[in-house]
Amino acid sequence: MINYKDLGLVNTREMFKKAVDGGYAIPAFNFNNMEQLQAIVMAAAETKSPVILQVSKGARQYANQTLLRYMAEGAVEYAKELGWEKPQIVLHLDHGDSFETCKSCIDMGFSSVMIDGSHLPYDENVALTKKVVEYAHQFDVTVEGELGVLAGVEDEVSAEESHYTKPEEVVDFVTKTGCDSLAISIGTSHGAFKFTPEQCTLDPQTGRLVPPPLAFDVLKAIEEQLPGFPIVLHGSSSVPQDEVDTINKYGGALKAAVGIPEEQLREASKSAVCKINIDSDSRLAMTAAVREVFAQKPAEFDPRKYLGPARDNMKKLYIHKIVNVLGSNDKA
Ligand code: G3H
Ligand code: 13P
Ligand code: ZN
Repeated sequence: MINYKDLGLVNTREMFKKAVDGGYAIPAFNFNNMEQLQAIVMAAAETKSPVILQVSKGARQYANQTLLRYMAEGAVEYAKELGWEKPQIVLHLDHGDSFETCKSCIDMGFSSVMIDGSHLPYDENVALTKKVVEYAHQFDVTVEGELGVLAGVEDEVSAEESHYTKPEEVVDFVTKTGCDSLAISIGTSHGAFKFTPEQCTLDPQTGRLVPPPLAFDVLKAIEEQLPGFPIVLHGSSSVPQDEVDTINKYGGALKAAVGIPEEQLREASKSAVCKINIDSDSRLAMTAAVREVFAQKPAEFDPRKYLGPARDNMKKLYIHKIVNVLGSNDKA
């Protein structure tokens, strides 16, 4: 049993309280590899932003949970080396799918876990989340639960609405489970294709697809039920169109990729939404930079020559999110 506090990591409790009170949100960036992690730590250290390093099931399969944990431990030391005296870094399990997965992460030094029972019947979600909370809180590890199902791109708009978090359930869920934060569904979804072209309107000036707005009325109703309680938004990539354009220009095939407009995330950050999950945007930034190098320097085969620009591009993206969208700079 390793306690995250011995690794210099922190849990989300204090961080979320300050974010809700201060009207900003903490970035939760997924990582699978060294370049992503370096870019996240450099961006957070330079902007003095608290940051959540997220490890998904896919990341655990790809890179190994133990290795990722040691990388996060290294990230704390690296942040100090970069001049960040007291790094505020959380190591978080993203979309934990069972008690056993959550326990295994807690036992090896994660400071926060998500138990995602959103696909389960309500009572089973409550029971599973409660079980994880009871275990995690013994070690002061914080737990994110989820209520409501994020829409898939195939869903009709009407079906999405029926998956929104029900404001009338949130007090009961939080009280019964004791979870520390709650992920909700208000129209975001995972990946780079969040809406079908049919769900969007076309901006005649730019020729870009404009997605339907998030359900801010549902968010407001949830906040009224749970004043000051930390709310989490998954699926919050904005799918920057310049990165999509670069990818397509250099041989990619990302047609009609569309994300959540940044103005809406900015607005959400000012509310009780205090954690915003971003993964796809980092993938796009990395892919765009790699494709550009491959296209422009076909003789290049030193991975540092294409992963280096990819890292620079991700760092730029992370700083932009922190400073211009979430407002978490100078908070750590
Ligand atoms: O929530 C989904 C994240 O973007 C992680 O995705 O399981 O492919 O790593 P992944
Ligand atoms: P995106 O696919 O929008 O980046 O969402 C990531 C996420 O929610 C990770 O849990
Ligand atoms: Zn997610």
